[in-house]
Amino acid sequence: MTLPLGTAAGRREANGWEGGVIKARPILYYKNSNILNYHNPSLTVISSEIIPGAIRWRSPSNIALVKYWGKHGNQLPQNASVSFTLSGAATDTTLRYKSRQEAGESVEVALLLDGTPNSGFTERTKAFLEKLLPVYPFLKQLSFTIETSNSFPHSAGIASSASGMSALALCLVSLEEELFEPFADRAEFLAKASYLSRLGSGSACRSVYGGAAVWGKLPGLDGSSDEYAVSVTESLHEVFKNYHDDILLISKSEKSVSSRAGHGLMEGNPYATARYAQANRRTDEMLSVLKHGNVERFGEILESEALTLHALMMSSHPPYILIRPNTLQVIERIHRYRADTGNPLYFTLDAGPNLHLLYPHAVAAEVKQFIREELLYFCEDKMYLADRVGKGPERLEVNE
Ligand code: PMV
Repeated sequence: MTLPLGTAAGRREANGWEGGVIKARPILYYKNSNILNYHNPSLTVISSEIIPGAIRWRSPSNIALVKYWGKHGNQLPQNASVSFTLSGAATDTTLRYKSRQEAGESVEVALLLDGTPNSGFTERTKAFLEKLLPVYPFLKQLSFTIETSNSFPHSAGIASSASGMSALALCLVSLEEELFEPFADRAEFLAKASYLSRLGSGSACRSVYGGAAVWGKLPGLDGSSDEYAVSVTESLHEVFKNYHDDILLISKSEKSVSSRAGHGLMEGNPYATARYAQANRRTDEMLSVLKHGNVERFGEILESEALTLHALMMSSHPPYILIRPNTLQVIERIHRYRADTGNPLYFTLDAGPNLHLLYPHAVAAEVKQFIREELLYFCEDKMYLADRVGKGPERLEVNE
């Protein structure tokens, strides 16, 4: 059946969206793609008209090729960054909502991690949802239960904030569509999901797109913004579309300095200004490399970015070190392996000791043998996670 385009459900069908009904209408609603923010006091509902429902999204993590490190204002980046979205490392989130008897000043939410109530995550999620009240005032008219789980073990020492925040943001934008009007197109939907994700965790804004994404205003990239990420998947060379990223778990311990504190320390870092300019130049160059498929130049920038990130930590005041002796052991072996075999295997690092090993599919069998035989020895519990560049988030059926 084709629904008339004049109806919300019809527009949704024409845009390839799943079905759904409008259960409440705002007094006034606007959408403007050249937004500076999405604040909209008119997004309130008539509580008695809300039918309880649930929305579920699975959203992946991403690995930055050129790093975002340093922020200002309301989670705005000091420089542009570009990342690959992963496939396997992901968060699966179900947002259940119902109306609340009386709207309170704060948001009513309970969060279950792997089926168990988690007070730490509940507090963080509540703070995030309250930060979103200027965008979604209806959040305090509803009561939420969020069920969330990660595809990777929580003790793996892998940050789940990018996948977790983007999964929740996608649920919220889908909820907006169910309560109000559908977005004109998928690009608008994803831009808003990216904007909300960013307010939760900066790098999360890049996870809403498959392939590769850029966050931060770049004069040479049309549509790029500090407020949300944009997809650059269209211009990705074939070789990068199924690139591998194997994550070596050097240490599963909690980091001694959080990313939030690390970003903060960039304010007093004597190299900050030069770094921000370098990252913008490198994001530009990386976009050209991603387009032309130069895996050697890709790797040079990748490794320099990892080492620069950690050099910035070591040159902060107070200085700190997140890499471990085994991180360096592995780096040395990767360099030796590259010199011996000529295979384009390169590493990068997040704000922690674990290594991401990036390489093209053509050398996958050889590289995996090298990891098993020579690198696993340096990993805690001999663990690594095999991942790939992925297709981006997916909306899933809700389990009743
Ligand atoms: O998104 P945050 O605040 O956790 O910062 C992430 C920073 C890095 O992962 C080190 C780099 C990046 O661009 O993802």
